[in-house]
Amino acid sequence: MSGLMTGTTGIAFIGCGYVADFYMATLPNHPELALRGVYDCDSERSKKFSGFHGVHPYSSVEELLADETVTIVVNLTNPGSHYEVSRRCLEAGKHVYSEKPFAEDLRQATDLVEFAEERGLTLSSAPCSALGETAQTVWRALRDEVIGRPRLVYAELDDGAVHQMPYRTWISPSGAPWPYEDEFRVGPTLEHAGYYVTWLTAFFGPVSEVVSFGRLIQPEKLGTPDTGFAADFTCACIEFDSGVVARLTCGTLAPENHSLQIVGDAGVLSVSECWDYGAEVKVRRRADVSESVHHYLAEAEKIPLVRPADYPFRYQDTHDMDFSRGVADMAAAIDRGASPRLSARHALHVLEIVLAISGTADATARTVIRSTFDAVEPMPWAGR
Ligand SMILES: NC(=O)c1ccc[n+]([C@@H]2O[C@H](COP(=O)([O-])OP(=O)(O)OC[C@H]3O[C@@H](n4cnc5c(N)ncnc54)[C@H](O)[C@@H]3O)[C@@H](O)[C@H]2O)c1
Repeated sequence: MSGLMTGTTGIAFIGCGYVADFYMATLPNHPELALRGVYDCDSERSKKFSGFHGVHPYSSVEELLADETVTIVVNLTNPGSHYEVSRRCLEAGKHVYSEKPFAEDLRQATDLVEFAEERGLTLSSAPCSALGETAQTVWRALRDEVIGRPRLVYAELDDGAVHQMPYRTWISPSGAPWPYEDEFRVGPTLEHAGYYVTWLTAFFGPVSEVVSFGRLIQPEKLGTPDTGFAADFTCACIEFDSGVVARLTCGTLAPENHSLQIVGDAGVLSVSECWDYGAEVKVRRRADVSESVHHYLAEAEKIPLVRPADYPFRYQDTHDMDFSRGVADMAAAIDRGASPRLSARHALHVLEIVLAISGTADATARTVIRSTFDAVEPMPWAGR
């Protein structure tokens, strides 16, 4: 683990649970980041995690925040703690990278963004998979007009019937159990819609309106019905200022499907998995229709990734993502005095959309989206 201590940007983790192991596994891909230490309000968890990974455990949040070698705090606490923890770190003059959702309501999220801006601090939020090789390849294909003008998107974030899986046995390498009660309470939309919403807003710009439908279809996930759980099925139609329309489905009942299709005038781009930075990107181009009555698309062709997703340090589970890439992009931006690709205003916009969808646990809603953001920059290796 010594390489983790020698980078140029000091970081610290608050929260040593299930996801923290994903960050630990992928951190060595970014030797410019130096993990100074970790803290968890559950001292047993802190002890187990720091012992397992051989990292320094801070004895209190105050000790962590007083460490002048820490530039960025990575907030890996539960969603219900995100606001309070991020706010405290910003007040102490730290830059913050937060796991998603970076707050559970828009008022708190706006407060964090405005406070960070006032203090000249950088705030950014997961998910960072839009910086992955697959997403960057899709985006490059769109810029190259491989499918002409994009019109319609179908994006699926169905995780399978999690309550029928042996989820109580899911344990991270350092021994953290998967926090199923929290996951069911927060729900698949607030937990996961941000993956594709981040991609799509990076590709197509700001959203103007969301129409959504949500239901808690199976409240008895833990035996007796629990209406405190969030919707386990949501379906939203999202309209972008640019005219593109997307349909996004999230849920924990239907079989796993994390696919994306983008339909344009000259063809269809597709990806079968958004939690794999190396997932294939395919295109079906518009075919010559002179000899066919119904077929109008050619066979699928692979589009080579803009670069191979062969980074060495991985956490391969139901996903294969470099979780630490967002922190690294943020550290590089702080060094340049620039905004990270996943800016706070972009994260706020994503959250406003996600909340508009997830806020409908048993309702339909039409929400005008008010926030906006500056265009997101592609990764330098993805070309113009
Ligand atoms: N579990 C996953 O597969 C997964 C994947 C991607 C992202 N995430 C996100 O990561 C975040 C954490 O999820 P997790 O699965 O690791 O949860 P977890 O419950 O396993 O871990 C969270 C940890 O944060 C600690 N914590 C909570 N409040 C705190 C506070 N105020 N100060 C210090 N420590 C505090 C808890 O004690 C706990 O150990 C969530 O936002 C979740 O959406 C989770």
